[in-house]
Amino acid sequence: MPAGAAAGPLSARLPVFPWDTLAPYDELARTHADGIVDLSVGTPVDPTPALVQAALAAAADASGYPLTAGTAALREAVAAWFARRRGVPDLDPAGVLPTIGSKEMVAWLPTLLGLGPGDVVVLPEIAYPTYDVGARLAGATPVAADGLTALGPQRVRLVWLNSPSNPTGRVLPPEHLRKVVTWARERGAVVASDECYAELGWEGAPASVLHPDVTGGSHDGVLAVYSLSKQSNLAGYRAGVVAGDVALVRELLEVRRHAGMIVPAPVQAAMVAALGDDAHVAEQRQRYRRRRDVLRPALEAAGFRIDDSQAGLYLWATRGEDCWESVRRLAGLGILVAPGSFYGVAGAQHVRVALTATDERIDAAATRLSALSESGAAPGG
Ligand SMILES: Cc1ncc(COP(=O)(O)O)c(C=O)c1O
Repeated sequence: MPAGAAAGPLSARLPVFPWDTLAPYDELARTHADGIVDLSVGTPVDPTPALVQAALAAAADASGYPLTAGTAALREAVAAWFARRRGVPDLDPAGVLPTIGSKEMVAWLPTLLGLGPGDVVVLPEIAYPTYDVGARLAGATPVAADGLTALGPQRVRLVWLNSPSNPTGRVLPPEHLRKVVTWARERGAVVASDECYAELGWEGAPASVLHPDVTGGSHDGVLAVYSLSKQSNLAGYRAGVVAGDVALVRELLEVRRHAGMIVPAPVQAAMVAALGDDAHVAEQRQRYRRRRDVLRPALEAAGFRIDDSQAGLYLWATRGEDCWESVRRLAGLGILVAPGSFYGVAGAQHVRVALTATDERIDAAATRLSALSESGAAPGG
């Protein structure tokens, strides 16, 4: 029998794609006379900034292969952005690598680092599902744990952090990040921090894992994963980056060169333009802030409590009932949200409400929610 034949198809290692289970509520929400307000996914709806589109178009003549490592201009733009926006003064451009969006890096990092059976990947208890998927693709063992002390003698090779979190919007303070980095360094594990909501802090500024207060001034064993999807409305471009420990980034580069995991040249040029301009990011932040300011009190008046949600693109809401009951209740108002159980058992009484809808749709949601508060519907009622 050829090696690996007994293992079965790779997809069999992966969990069932949960979004299909939301379909009946999508259908219900679509029956609303004024149409659905879809707050179930975090996909940007506002325009890609004109200066980014122009940079993409200007780089459209791209007959040769782009560098897997990215252009020097891109690597320098990333380092300058980390210095300017994240308080990371010492990011070496050699420790920067563009990725095809950040989801692929989340999904393939354990494999690219050479992890396999017997290796443990630690991820948050309530988490974006792709950390778990990445561990499984590598044949490693995913362990959902917010505290590291309970982990025992297992061979932890990679620890994922996600601050600000999807779905909870929780922000980890620098002391917490530092403790994780210290713990991981003592064990030779890599810390990868997914920071794609970094520019969307509503209550305070989220710290980067690469900040000197966290790393003690050395990036050894530490990687930050970032994405331009959210800050620059660039999800369709697939524009991400991994940065930090130069030796680790070189290793990732080596494998990715062989595997053809290359960001297209026009997208690299668009990324340089996006990273060099803070004005469009501030403008987009304001749009999300307004939507949050409308939606949060409307949810609260309708009997929801908002937990965490200090940053990011979501409100993490609960009525103290099973999340599917809340999903059903909101779908009856034509509002589609994601059940917290998609993100782990600890999310079973929450729903994730995305801010990624137009102002008009967010206002419609608030109006519909006020009907729920007027009806005085109690949890479970
Ligand atoms: C926590 C987190 N990481 C990564 C991603 C992937 O983003 P992208 O692949 O668009 O960079 C998302 C997208 O929603 C996310 O929420």
